[in-house]
Amino acid sequence: MRYRTATLEDLDPLVKLYKTVAANEGGIARLENEITSEYIRGFLEKSLETGLIIVGENPDDASELVAEIHGYKPGIQVFDHVLGDVTIVVHPDFQGRKIGRTILMIFLDEIVRNRPDIGRVELIARESNEKAIALYQSVGFLIEGRLEMRIKTADHYEADIPMGWQNPNYEL
Ligand SMILES: CC(C)(COP(=O)(O)OP(=O)(O)OC[C@H]1O[C@@H](n2cnc3c(N)ncnc32)[C@H](O)[C@@H]1OP(=O)(O)O)[C@@H](O)C(=O)NCCC(=O)NCCS
Repeated sequence: MRYRTATLEDLDPLVKLYKTVAANEGGIARLENEITSEYIRGFLEKSLETGLIIVGENPDDASELVAEIHGYKPGIQVFDHVLGDVTIVVHPDFQGRKIGRTILMIFLDEIVRNRPDIGRVELIARESNEKAIALYQSVGFLIEGRLEMRIKTADHYEADIPMGWQNPNYEL
């Protein structure tokens, strides 16, 4: 499978991938109808400008994307060393095959090697997303708290879990 930095041409394949992932409840926060071109374009442009965005191509059809991870700087000076809004998605048909782990490792490795301007990477996962939380912990993210009642589903509320990772090669 080929992993590479995204380009603006990836907009439509990314909309498709995010809609497919959002159709399954319990993963990313947005519902399927909240995945719009504007939303995708927003994080695509910001990640290319200040952060990092990596995609994984379908080995059988390179025009289709099956995995993606991104993050970008919040645009406030005191947070200039922070990579936020980090989101990782793997197409449901490709989950459980180490693709999520691989793309996350590529993302963090790139930061360690080439991004001394990034000191901290932060993300939030809902507490029931044990798979994602276990993955993040296994690569060094720490649980930093608990945002009670932050996620509202059709029939219950659940906590959101903020997590952080620090770049050992960050240069102050
Ligand atoms: C969460 C997600 C990115 C993981 O990607 P993936 O390719 O399915 O996961 P991987 O096969 O790389 O597995 C990575 C780790 O996840 C955990 N994991 C995977 N399947 C699991 C399961 N059924 N139960 C518990 N943990 C599991 C394990 O820690 C696993 O580690 P291992 O490599 O030692 O087995 C992917 O499932 C996904 O896109 N889910 C929907 C969107 C989402 O929830 N994104 C995260 C929002 S915070």
